[in-house]
Amino acid sequence: MKKIYSYIFITIAAAGMLMFAACSSSDTKEHNNRKISFNKDWQFHLNDATVDKDTFSAATKWRTLNVPHDWSVEGSFDEHSPGGIGGGALNGGLGWYKKIFTVAAADSTKVTSIVFDGVYCNSEVWINGHYLGKRPNGYIGFEYNLTPFLKFGDTKNEIVVKVLNQQPNSRWYSGSGMYRNIWLQTTDKLHVAENGTFVTTPKVTAENAIVAIQTTIKNEYASTKEATVTTTLYKGDSEVTSVSQKISLEANTEKTIKQETTVNNPALWNVDAPELYTAITEIKTGDEVTDSYSTPFGIRSFTFDLDKGFILNGKQLKIKGVCLHHDLGPLGSAINTRAIERQLQIMKDMGVNGVRTSHNPPAPELLDLCDKMGFIVMDEAFDMWEQSKNKYDYSTAWDKWHKIDLEAQILRDRNHPSVFIWSIGNEIPEQWNENGARIGKELAAIVKALDTTRPVTAAMNPPIIVNGDINIQFTETAAQPNALAGSGALDLIGYNYAHQTYANHKINFPKTPFIATETTSALQTRGYYDEKSDTIKQWPKRWDIPLTTGNPGNTCSAYDQIQTPWGSTHEATWKVMKKHDFLSGMFIWTGFDYIGEPTPYQWPSISSYFGIVDLAGFPKDVYYMYQSEWTDKDVLHILPHWNWKAGQTVDVWAYYNHADEVELYLNGKSLGKQSKKGDDLHVMWKVPYAPGTLKAVSRKGGKTVLEREVKTSGAAASLKAIADRTTIDADGNDLSYITVDIYDANGVFAATANNEINFSVKGEGKIVGVCSGDPVSHESYKGTKHTALNGKCLVIVQSTEKAGTIELTASAAGLKSSTIEIRTK
Ligand code: GAL
Repeated sequence: MKKIYSYIFITIAAAGMLMFAACSSSDTKEHNNRKISFNKDWQFHLNDATVDKDTFSAATKWRTLNVPHDWSVEGSFDEHSPGGIGGGALNGGLGWYKKIFTVAAADSTKVTSIVFDGVYCNSEVWINGHYLGKRPNGYIGFEYNLTPFLKFGDTKNEIVVKVLNQQPNSRWYSGSGMYRNIWLQTTDKLHVAENGTFVTTPKVTAENAIVAIQTTIKNEYASTKEATVTTTLYKGDSEVTSVSQKISLEANTEKTIKQETTVNNPALWNVDAPELYTAITEIKTGDEVTDSYSTPFGIRSFTFDLDKGFILNGKQLKIKGVCLHHDLGPLGSAINTRAIERQLQIMKDMGVNGVRTSHNPPAPELLDLCDKMGFIVMDEAFDMWEQSKNKYDYSTAWDKWHKIDLEAQILRDRNHPSVFIWSIGNEIPEQWNENGARIGKELAAIVKALDTTRPVTAAMNPPIIVNGDINIQFTETAAQPNALAGSGALDLIGYNYAHQTYANHKINFPKTPFIATETTSALQTRGYYDEKSDTIKQWPKRWDIPLTTGNPGNTCSAYDQIQTPWGSTHEATWKVMKKHDFLSGMFIWTGFDYIGEPTPYQWPSISSYFGIVDLAGFPKDVYYMYQSEWTDKDVLHILPHWNWKAGQTVDVWAYYNHADEVELYLNGKSLGKQSKKGDDLHVMWKVPYAPGTLKAVSRKGGKTVLEREVKTSGAAASLKAIADRTTIDADGNDLSYITVDIYDANGVFAATANNEINFSVKGEGKIVGVCSGDPVSHESYKGTKHTALNGKCLVIVQSTEKAGTIELTASAAGLKSSTIEIRTK
């Protein structure tokens, strides 16, 4: 249960051939033909048992499916789920997957491996009855060499995977099963090791960059091999430079070689122009190329400075980041490249330039996209170390696995130009005692042995080590000595919350730069508003006190007025962050709502309220506050809706930029002009309600910049479906996100309508998710009907592999329906 661990302590102490579009790009050169997708035609069986003693038999009924697959999201919300509402009230359990496949006879002289990008969790794998191993960590990738156990030609092979998600483990919704991509990899016996390259740029200037390439080559032949290893750098399809080296490798050994070259006039990677290069490693014996391995990389230099904060390519840049959990809302945790890309696009449009992969290694596709779209990633390893937060969490595997898992993460992710910070943990209970210092140093050393080019941090709550400015959010306690923060293990001091103490960072930590690893934790229900906005409410009063006050239906007002006791409003933290140069940046909790961990932490709530964007991907109002501050776009946004009762006086807010003032009109009559003063981030009017049209006009030097209106709507009368993309790929993966809005008879958006909407689909597609963003809805995300929240609902349609059209119809009792056509090609 959230917060118990930190609070209790404080109390005590006070007292390949990559198939997906997003994996290839016109900007990078893909030569990696070692891997093919192994996602199709798995058989799946979910056992009723939640304990680790069940198996399957000849009578077992299997269902055929393609992975990525998350079985938890297919179930119903269950108040008594062992994972609790923290886990989204969806169940884990014991699942089995198996797949029959053949391997070409020609491959019998090669090395064949299966690569899992991640299986949640405790997976065990067998090939043709041979046990290959177990991987407790559900968030890390791993591979097994199948070669010695395979049958070749027409003879069939069977691979079996057992998955045991015993709850509670993660403090948020994890999903269950083979929820990431799976690959079959075939290489010559002389090949580059998996994740066997490391490309760094030790010197970068505008004129040239030194590119250093470290390559690990494996010889699995029974004899010594002589070969030439050539690394060629490409920008798009153009060759930039190339280096070669001869090697001799004894039977069954591996060797790491180092090469270096120079790129003149390098195109530097940054968040606005994420320029990428590709290093292609070729191994040649005689005239034969035995392996070709591709490593996308970027050329950039950066530092975290005690005084100037984050510097990228010589220029100061504030990290405006968000924390993201890995679920994809109604799709559950089953990864889909387009779904991740859409999340990142929505964030980019808000002005976000950073992502924290809270609190685990992400899907590889997320990092590929961050490389291409320009995000500063804080790549996080763990949410706990030895000391548990939940009964079945990773602490149970810590001793045996933490080194292996952390190494796997660094090796997998260290070539990504988007990765700038390694985080070795989030709110680790040991931070308060000497174990925090001991383990922190051990983990930092593991990271540094594999990568010295990036700083190591930990997300600490809070990292105060001296008396002085006591973290006022924990008023019951005195400042705590944080052993991890004081251990010297960290290159960056990572603050979770405690924005009141940021200004004193250099007094408390005179040698180590600052990063706000996690901020804010404000709460909002999209499109819902309490009548008054000018009091900041701490809701719930404290995380561990059952909710006695608060709104019926567990709604949270979207005026940026509700915060957790440990957090702040969105405005409060950003005001401090923008004030001081030495504050390198922040990662807001959270960019998107996620399944699980609702606050109020009580049924019927089952998903979070923290998102700047709701679970369906619809922005809450504060999105536009950030957009007005973080982008060059002209912004004017007014809230709330205009459906109130006679006699109410309603607070009207406007977020704006690029203007001197905003004038508000109700039914054509001016309610006066307002301008932001000092560090204000919005303006406000108190307006006696009358139905009609509320209109805001922003002006600069007397000239209109933007106009925005909200209107009182009548009863819901019609639906309108709008797709984010009306042409998608006919590849069986691609998605069209269709928003269905509700309107009244006059075509006015019905901002408080909550009709149930039915969806039906014809043609070359299927419905894979429905969602309104309502944290108390218990309707399945996998159904074909859903109740709208405040005028909006989302349906996600996926293509088949056949080109054609998809026709999606949204209908609701008594309302005019809407049909939309999506082309697939
Ligand atoms: C933090 C924690 C996050 C999440 C958040 C909610 O303390 O690191 O995982 O629980 O609180 O406010």
